[in-house]
Amino acid sequence: EKEGYDHFMLKEIHEQPRAFRNTMTGRIDEKGKKVIFEGLSLTSEQLMQIDKIFIVACGTAYHAGLVGKYVIEDLARIPVEVDVASEFRYRRPIVTEKTLVIVVSQSGETADTLAALREARRLGAKVLAITNVVGSSIARDADDVIATMAGPEIAVASTKAYTSQLVAFYLLGIYLAQVRETIEEGERISLIEALEKLPEQAEEVLSYSENIRTFADSIKDHKSLFYIGRGIDYAVALEGSLKLKEISYIHSEAYPAGELKHGTLALIEENIPVIALATQDELYEKMISNIKEVTARGAHVLGIALAGDTELHKSTDEVISVPSTVSLFTPALSVIPLQLLSYYTSLALGNDVDKPRNLAKSVTVE
Ligand code: F6R
Repeated sequence: EKEGYDHFMLKEIHEQPRAFRNTMTGRIDEKGKKVIFEGLSLTSEQLMQIDKIFIVACGTAYHAGLVGKYVIEDLARIPVEVDVASEFRYRRPIVTEKTLVIVVSQSGETADTLAALREARRLGAKVLAITNVVGSSIARDADDVIATMAGPEIAVASTKAYTSQLVAFYLLGIYLAQVRETIEEGERISLIEALEKLPEQAEEVLSYSENIRTFADSIKDHKSLFYIGRGIDYAVALEGSLKLKEISYIHSEAYPAGELKHGTLALIEENIPVIALATQDELYEKMISNIKEVTARGAHVLGIALAGDTELHKSTDEVISVPSTVSLFTPALSVIPLQLLSYYTSLALGNDVDKPRNLAKSVTVE
């Protein structure tokens, strides 16, 4: 079933272009260049009324939610709060009939996410589930479902489910913007065109991402490393860091790059590996100066940049570039080298890549 790949994780990483295509299929009206969600029970009137969105999930799905916040706030201009399900369910979140709660779950069976969904409904909110399993408990209990079409995910470390959740958020962000008329037609058309290019761009990233192997070999004996980024890159840094922890068992932390000098910089010492994401044009100059702060202290830096970047090469040891797209869409591409980095590091350490210690694929108990 691994279709020639050594591990499910590697197979699933390579399935991402297809998962993107399948998640978009039937949801884009080619003529009008609009997003369509057939069978959605939430009416346009209800969507107009929403004054607040909560995105609630665990682990990697929570990280997808962090990207979702940027997307929805930027495109639809609705305030979004992202919460870990095990926190949301035990506090007194301010939820009303005008709140939309979006739960995100690959398996659709995560106990905390399911309990958060039920609590949100009890409080009167509408709940929309983004899930990979349409027959799951979460899909059944939600008012509406956007299915990610990633196909079964076997490896414990989530890859294609995460990026398919991102695609679902891109579609949803455009949809909400369409309904609430917060973006111009021209912008919508270019967003949809950019979205439709993502599968082939992901293929392109996969075709050269093996280069990450050398960096993986160089970090395998380290005790600790850092991922830094700003804006949406920070959300990707968190996911990259989690992926590494799960399967390589190496400690890592993700930091918003601007926060370094408020404490973490004290941990930057000679040769410590730092993975720096610099894909956001508007934050680029700031990122370059943050990178210089760590290289000045001897860090060994891998940069993730957009194709055509020239600056980053000067201030980092290695650069992996990803094709240019709309800045909100870069996470779907920039996370791929990070997934491969954790895969190859785990492999180099001789760990059980698909079944890391202490973890289960589906967390159905609290
Ligand atoms: C990380 C990972 C976990 C899950 C989390 C939520 O690679 O797989 O962090 O993302 O347990 O699971 P789902 O999405 O099934 O609710």
